[in-house]
Amino acid sequence: MADISATDDAWWRGAVIYQVYPRSFADADGDGTGDLAGVRSRLGYLRELGVDALWFNPWYPSPMADGGYDVADYRDVDPMFGTLADAEKLIAEALDLGMRTIVDIVPNHVSAEHPWFREALAAGPGSPARELFWFRPGRGAHGELPPTNWPSQFGGPAWTRTTEPDGSPGEWYLNLFDSRQPDLNWAHPAVRREHEEVLRFWFDRGAAGVRVDSAALLTKDPALPDLPARGEPDPHPYVDRDDLHEIYRSWRAVADGYPGARILVGEVWTPDPERFARYLRPDEMHTAFNFGFLCCPWDAERLRTCVDTTLAAHRPVGAPATWVLCNHDVTRTVTRYGRAETGFDFATKAHGVPTDLALGTRRARAAALLTLALPGSVYLYQGEELGLPEAEDIPADRRQDPMYLRTGGADPGRDGCRVPMPWSGTRPPYGFGPEGGAEPWLPQPDDWAGRTAEAQSGDPDSMLELYRAALRLRRREPALGDGTLTWLDAGPGVLAFRRDASFACVLNLAPHAVRLPEHRAPLLASGALDGDRLPPDTAVWLRT
Ligand code: GLC
Repeated sequence: MADISATDDAWWRGAVIYQVYPRSFADADGDGTGDLAGVRSRLGYLRELGVDALWFNPWYPSPMADGGYDVADYRDVDPMFGTLADAEKLIAEALDLGMRTIVDIVPNHVSAEHPWFREALAAGPGSPARELFWFRPGRGAHGELPPTNWPSQFGGPAWTRTTEPDGSPGEWYLNLFDSRQPDLNWAHPAVRREHEEVLRFWFDRGAAGVRVDSAALLTKDPALPDLPARGEPDPHPYVDRDDLHEIYRSWRAVADGYPGARILVGEVWTPDPERFARYLRPDEMHTAFNFGFLCCPWDAERLRTCVDTTLAAHRPVGAPATWVLCNHDVTRTVTRYGRAETGFDFATKAHGVPTDLALGTRRARAAALLTLALPGSVYLYQGEELGLPEAEDIPADRRQDPMYLRTGGADPGRDGCRVPMPWSGTRPPYGFGPEGGAEPWLPQPDDWAGRTAEAQSGDPDSMLELYRAALRLRRREPALGDGTLTWLDAGPGVLAFRRDASFACVLNLAPHAVRLPEHRAPLLASGALDGDRLPPDTAVWLRT
C-alpha cells in the first residue's frame, strides 16, 4: 500500500487535480446516481489520463437540497454514494495508483437536517443551541420582515422565518444559500473546534487535502448591518472579512501536523487579487481557485493581463497560481467559448444563448494547452477532457439546482454542467450505469455517442487524446508545473511564452494564421498547423 507520508512535499505546487462530481461520475449499483464503487471502477481511466490528485465534491450524508453542499454529517458517506469504508478504500486505491485525494469541506453552513440545527430549532429562542447559528427576531411591527436586506446567493432573501411549536411565526435564521443551508456562527468556539476535528477526521483517513467551500463567507459582522443600496460596502458584513484569516491559520496548523503535505484549497471569489493572495500567505491556505481566469473572456490582451495579475499577486506570498476553466458551478467551457460573450458571469447567465460548439471546442482545446503550460497547478473538471458541452435542454421538471428553483427559472442554474458522464455505447446511459439500471438522475443528451470516453479513446483528434498527450508531456517536461514564465513578443492577438530555454507555448487568438517563433520542433498542437504557421484559436507547445 502506498504511504502518503513518503512523498514529495511540494506535490501540490504543480499538480493536475481532477474534480470528481460523485453523483455524475459512474453508477456501479444502477440506481441512476453515481457512487464511490463507480469511481473505484474507473480509477484506471483517471490514472491513464495522467492526473496527480482527485478532488471530490461532497459525499457526506445530505438531503441533497444543494447537491450535497447541505451536509448533515461531516464524518460519514451518504448511502447513495456508499459507505465510509468505501471512501477509505477509494482513498487508498487512488493513492496506490499515484493519485492523492482532496475532500470538500463545507464550513459556512450545515444542512437543516444536521443535528445541531434540529436541536437549535427545538430549543427555541435564546437557547445556547441557537447561538451556533444566526437566529434573530424579524423587523417590522410583528417581526414579519427579515433582520437585514441581505440576498441569498441563490435568489430571494438570505433569511428564513421559523415556526413555533404552536404554529405561530418565530425568529428568522440566516442562510446565505438555500433555506435548507443555515449559516453557522463562526464567532462560536464550538463551531471552530468541530471543524478542526472534521479536518483531522479526513486527514486521519489519508486525505491529502481539503477544498474549503465558500471560504470567504464564514465570518459575519455581528451588528448585522444592511447592505447599502448601491456600491460595495468596505468592510463587507459577510464577504472576505479580515477575521477569516485567523481561522485558516489554525486550519493550516492542523494540516501541518500531518506528514506528507496536506493542503488547503480555498474557494475564494474576490475580484481583488491582493485580497485574494492574503488567503495564500505561508501560514494560511496552500492554493485557491483562480476564478479571475475562469471568468476571463477569450481575448489575448485580457488573458495576458489575467496571467500577469495572477502571477504578480501570488509572487509576494510564495504560493503557486492555479488555472481553472470550469467546475460544477459554471457553464461548460466548449459552450462558453462558442458564444459571442466568452467570459463567465453568474449575474448574466441566461438560457439558450446561441453557441457555436465547433468554435468553442477549438478554443477549449487551445485553452487546455494554455492552462497546462502556465506556471502552477491545474484543476480539471470531469467531462472537460471529453469536451462535454453544457446540457441546455434539461426539462424544467428534471432540474434540481436550487439556483434554478429559487429564481423561478430566471437563472438556468447549474444542472447543465452536472449531467452524468458518458463512458461508452451509443445511447443513454452511455455506460454511466449498468444496462437496465435506473435512468440517470439528470437526463443525458441523445447526441453524446461521439463524446463517450470509449468513442474518443484512440482517436488522435479527440479532446480525450489531446488531454492524455498533454498530461503525459507535462509529467516529462521539467519546465512545466511550478515555476515562472517569460513572455515572447509574438505580435497582437498572440500569447507566447517560454517556461525554460527549451520549452515554449504559443496561442493564437488573432483572426488570421501567424508565423511560429523560432523553434526546433512542435511537441503538441491543439489543431493542425499550417506549415510553420499557427491557425486562429490554436495553441502549440514547442521544443525551442
Ligand atoms: C460553493 C459550491 C457550490 C455550492 C455553494 C454552497 O460555491 O461550489 O456548488 O452551491 O458553495 O455551498
